[in-house]
Amino acid sequence: MYERKEITPAQLEEQRGYCERIRDRLADRPHLALVETYGCQQNESDSEILRGWLMDCGYGLTDDPGQADLIAVNTCAVREHAELRVFGNVGALNHRKAKNPDLIVAVGGCMVQQAVVQERLRKSFPVVDLAFGPHELWRFPELLWRTMERREHRNRKSQRRLIAAQPSDGVVAEGLPRQRDGGIKAWLSIMNGCDNFCTYCIVPHVRGRERSRRPEDVLAEARSLAAAGYKDITLLGQNVNSYGKGLGGDVDFPELLRRIGDIPGDFVLRFMTSHPKDATEKLFRAMAETEKCAHHIHLPVQSGSSRVLRAMNRHYDREKYLDTVAMARSILPDLVLTTDIIVGFPGETEAEFEETLSLVEQVRYDAMFTFIYSPRTGTPAAALPDPVSRAEKQVWFDRLLESANRISAEKHAEYVGKTCRVLVDGVTNDPARNLSARTKGGRLVHLAGDPALVGQFTDAEITDSSTWALFGKAV
Ligand code: 5AD
Ligand code: SF4
Repeated sequence: MYERKEITPAQLEEQRGYCERIRDRLADRPHLALVETYGCQQNESDSEILRGWLMDCGYGLTDDPGQADLIAVNTCAVREHAELRVFGNVGALNHRKAKNPDLIVAVGGCMVQQAVVQERLRKSFPVVDLAFGPHELWRFPELLWRTMERREHRNRKSQRRLIAAQPSDGVVAEGLPRQRDGGIKAWLSIMNGCDNFCTYCIVPHVRGRERSRRPEDVLAEARSLAAAGYKDITLLGQNVNSYGKGLGGDVDFPELLRRIGDIPGDFVLRFMTSHPKDATEKLFRAMAETEKCAHHIHLPVQSGSSRVLRAMNRHYDREKYLDTVAMARSILPDLVLTTDIIVGFPGETEAEFEETLSLVEQVRYDAMFTFIYSPRTGTPAAALPDPVSRAEKQVWFDRLLESANRISAEKHAEYVGKTCRVLVDGVTNDPARNLSARTKGGRLVHLAGDPALVGQFTDAEITDSSTWALFGKAV
């Protein structure tokens, strides 16, 4: 049983003390930091906290690695591909450090929580001064301070580095600083960790047990985002549908949606990710009855085969998933539906893969994120026999992608001739369609219009579409 561990105000104060000490240390000249993020939105959100800490420690932020006095890499462990990119890019920092020996290199996030990665960093990546797991983010200033001290006072090279990633079920920390990106869209993390233990997934092993923030803390943050003029708020959690479990209160996820939706302000409310096993009628009704809530749900199916779903420990089968989709669409007829799919789970047969294809044809997703199975050390699936070759999996993957793309293009074509309310979120490099925007359902729109519309809602006439986007003009 997970025992909730909350960071106390006194512990936070201690961290602020470290910020001050670092600020004093950096006072001789301006110092700059760069934060690079891999992986999911939860990681983007963690990087905002990291930037918040760095600024409190006296750093300015930069996008230019050549200017940086500190480079922090926030890593993802969900697939091997992401890990290899991190190792490649961190290894490449050797050149920068050769030019600037004072450069501090910090590696944080999910990869660092794995013992195999710690070992590799220790042995093969002397360029890394500080490695810290996801459970250490709340005490980043202390770790940075200790890293600075070690670099100055330890003689042996191996002692100059710090690897902090204690085994932990995770903590709940309120009041951490946060440097948000832009003033239009905001992440709002409502919970952390995961208790589902899908057999392929490393997340529960690195991010710890599922723990929800208190509703009053989430609501206070949502109110301050609305008051600051944010137009698009995305609630984040590994499985938002089980929000509130373990808090002992009466606020579950549908209730939280309604309460945030009641906050005054003109904003769209989104959330991700939902586990299909917990996506209930109550949730879809709350979405329908909460005017601000986007009619979009990301509902990762992972496979269309009930046998494979059981082996994945997903707690639903093909029929139950299809029933959930039908129910959702009966309550929200204009629902935008997106999903994740894994191709080539160990032991998956061609016939089982074809069940996934047929489910995709039946559901017709607006967009899909497809992945080839990647074995993760320490997960149960990694120990299963996996007789299908990588090349064969690639052929399956390509077939799936072809269906996904065709269906997305067809779905997008249905928008042509319609007028949608969109939020303009930036400018593009294309003079003909100079603005980028999102529909309430989250579809990307390239628009021609006045750049003064950035940060505002506008009506857009959709004139054209492709697999990836809609095109039109502001009206
Ligand atoms: N291999 C491939 N894809 C994975 N995902 C999670 N773990 C793995 C893995 N070991 C995918 C799932 C999940 C998404 C975030 O990443 O589809 O929904
Ligand atoms: Fe991984 Fe499953 Fe948790 Fe998603 S729900 S993070 S796939 S264990």
